[in-house]
Amino acid sequence: MKAKPAKNASFVQESSEWVRKPKKMDANLQDYFKAYKNFSWKNVEKEFDWHKTKKVNIVHEMIDRHAAGVRKNKVALYFWDPTSTSFHPQGRDEKYTFLDLKNLSSRFGNVLKKNQIKKKDRIAVFLPRTPELYISILGIHRIGAIPVPLFEAFMEAAIEDRLSNSEANTIVTTPELLSRIPFSKLPHLKHLVFVGQTSGTNTSYGLPPTVRIHHYYEEMKSASNYLEPAWLGVDDGLVIHYTSGSTGRSKGVLHRQYAMVGHFQTSKWALDLKEEDVYWCTADPGWVTGTSYGIYGPWTMGISSVVLGGRFAVERWYEAIEKYQVSVWYSAPTAFRMLMAHGKEIPARHHLKSLRHICSVGEPLNPEALRWIREITGLAPHETWWMTETGMHIICNYRSLDFKIGAMGRPFPGTYATVVDDKGKELPPNTLGNLVVKTPWPGMMKEIWGNPAKYKEYFRIKGWYLSGDTAYRDKEGFLWFAGRADDVIKTAGERVGPFEVESALVQHPAVAEAGVIGKPDELRGHIIKAFISLRSGFTPSDILKKEISEFVRKNMAAHAAPREIEFCEKVPKTRSGKIMRRVLRAWDQGIPVGDISTMEE
Ligand code: WTA
Repeated sequence: MKAKPAKNASFVQESSEWVRKPKKMDANLQDYFKAYKNFSWKNVEKEFDWHKTKKVNIVHEMIDRHAAGVRKNKVALYFWDPTSTSFHPQGRDEKYTFLDLKNLSSRFGNVLKKNQIKKKDRIAVFLPRTPELYISILGIHRIGAIPVPLFEAFMEAAIEDRLSNSEANTIVTTPELLSRIPFSKLPHLKHLVFVGQTSGTNTSYGLPPTVRIHHYYEEMKSASNYLEPAWLGVDDGLVIHYTSGSTGRSKGVLHRQYAMVGHFQTSKWALDLKEEDVYWCTADPGWVTGTSYGIYGPWTMGISSVVLGGRFAVERWYEAIEKYQVSVWYSAPTAFRMLMAHGKEIPARHHLKSLRHICSVGEPLNPEALRWIREITGLAPHETWWMTETGMHIICNYRSLDFKIGAMGRPFPGTYATVVDDKGKELPPNTLGNLVVKTPWPGMMKEIWGNPAKYKEYFRIKGWYLSGDTAYRDKEGFLWFAGRADDVIKTAGERVGPFEVESALVQHPAVAEAGVIGKPDELRGHIIKAFISLRSGFTPSDILKKEISEFVRKNMAAHAAPREIEFCEKVPKTRSGKIMRRVLRAWDQGIPVGDISTMEE
């Protein structure tokens, strides 16, 4: 059977066009097939000090061991944000060596420790992309606590959800973001670390008396540069990332310290990072790519990393590559398409020849975007497929290996990904089915925080992790992405759960019922579309559509606000009350709705 596109398939077309590689290359991974055959994660463990000492803490492996050796004065972090603010009128242009990060993360660890914040506590980090964000995360690791990075665009309802689920006792944030944190509804939240110029009190900020305010810059000044990491075991918690499913609220995906073994090896073989590289991961640490490959992978390898602050700006992206002579670039299809939309003149003004390897993640990389990036840089982006839950790359194209344009690639050595039917039987080539990963692997999530039943659902086919993506394998062994098997939406590379958006929509006084789907879109992959039935007394209008969309933007997050709204009489539901998003997708595309025997009258 020839693979058919899945019901919410994206617009990647199958192609048989190859990207061919020279016979001899200086890639870290020389022979994929040989490596795949002989691979053992046990060998990778030897790369870490804990292999000998039995004392585990990722901050030691990322920072301290480099600061104690030849990389001591090597730049770990280049930070650039030319945006002028009252605090930084000239913008920021800074660099931090591994030794600097050791000192600063020790200081921050000491600030936390002094306030009885300890091992295993969850600490929310709600900051814009700044050095303080990275220093905070490192300091949290140092005391053995668990960072909960929260994307800076989240608004009150999303923040409340994530903080109440994680029961974080501390939040690190800025005065600008403060109003989005509903302290009175979060009894676990006891400490507020303020990054910015502030002098207010609990009363002036309207905080409950139980919350203690700590001023980041002041406390950091007097804290000591020395703090030995809290020693942990490989199974202890590393980080919690909140992500969306097709049903219910966001889920807290907890990873283990052991995931560093996977971050390290995939950074070495898929990102092909080398000692002399300047590496730029464009993802925010609010999302898993921004930690696994914006922090853990490059720094466990001792690589110099670039972080660009501020909003997306086309020319600045090329400037950043030129300014830092970036050699390895990890980004996403939506970003490539946005650059593409602004044409070739801007990149022609910049020197991009420092680049030697490009990777892509988050959504299918359409051939046009790949070809365009290849035209302006001379390099074809290499796909990597993975998820918040997998913690690390699972399917990749490799620098030394020929690949087919449009395919996600082949399983990373030490992992096995394939396509199975609903019973777990592997399917023959070119047959559409469930994309699964054989359990376990180093980055496999440890828990869904506070929700063991949800965790189990992923592993309901024995021996496999069920990704929720549909895919097929071709005769050469390449895996091809087809779509989602569930209703999860990927918009501009960000994962959004329809339930969360629907819950935000029905809070609006005009909305009786709401059903949300992803609608295919050339630039963003998908956009969020809402079908809404109105309460009596309200009439459909464009003004109302705008108002409703704005309402979601203000309560949840800009990226989760519907870009398209359609009013309908009734939102289609099953007799048991579940929204039939399959029917909504058919309505949207103007195609027959299929079997609706389970729909309510
Ligand atoms: C999608 C991002 C096609 C997929 C690291 C997956 C991709 C979801 C690719 C996870 C790719 C990721 N081609 N689709 N190369 N990479 N996806 O948790 O649907 O934000 O299930 O993790 O992104 O998104 P998440």
